[in-house]
Amino acid sequence: MKIFIDTANINEIREAASMGVLDGVTTNPSLVAKEGKEFKALLKEICAVVNGDISAEVVSTELDGMLREGRELAKIHDNIVVKVPLIKEGLKAVKCFKAEGIKTNVTLCFSPNQALLAAKAGAYIISPFVGRLDDISTSGMQLIEQILTIYRNYEFDTQVLVASIRHPLHVVESAMMGAHIGTMPFSVITQLIKHPLTDIGLDRFLADWKKTQK
Ligand code: E4P
Repeated sequence: MKIFIDTANINEIREAASMGVLDGVTTNPSLVAKEGKEFKALLKEICAVVNGDISAEVVSTELDGMLREGRELAKIHDNIVVKVPLIKEGLKAVKCFKAEGIKTNVTLCFSPNQALLAAKAGAYIISPFVGRLDDISTSGMQLIEQILTIYRNYEFDTQVLVASIRHPLHVVESAMMGAHIGTMPFSVITQLIKHPLTDIGLDRFLADWKKTQK
């Protein structure tokens, strides 16, 4: 499973990339707004650090606006994937972008039928949000299972990107189900490294070694 970081913070992106575990980056308008930087300049900075898919979201909700914004974003770097919301105009935009050779990540997916439509329209990536479903007492991971089954049944090429990941269990379940990508905040990537027995074991090794150094 590819691991993406869900942030627009360049320091977090650099740190995750330096660990050798990072395959791409997802941003959204809320994450970009937090950084207070000019959007295109920020995307260029990210593309210089990570050689993988970098999702950049349009903010128009009309077809013409989405196409205009998406084409501009796609010009920034070959690795830019244009993120489009899962609404009717968004599906139309995905169809046009596909014909132009521009990759899309269809975001804000909360149902298997939405995912089916996104794949049919020609999405490169679909982003079902598991954490936000869990927040309203609906199983986010069940949605991932449904989408993977549907895509396998009909051999769609669209990659399933598990988004809105909140904790390590979301990651292991995504990997076991065979999701293509998981995007997660830096804090979750850090949590994946940790195991208390690793820390206890390392402390013991170092303490025993120190005893021999007198
Ligand atoms: C996906 O691309 C989104 O940016 C993201 O995963 C949303 O996560 P949140 O529900 O934690 O905001």
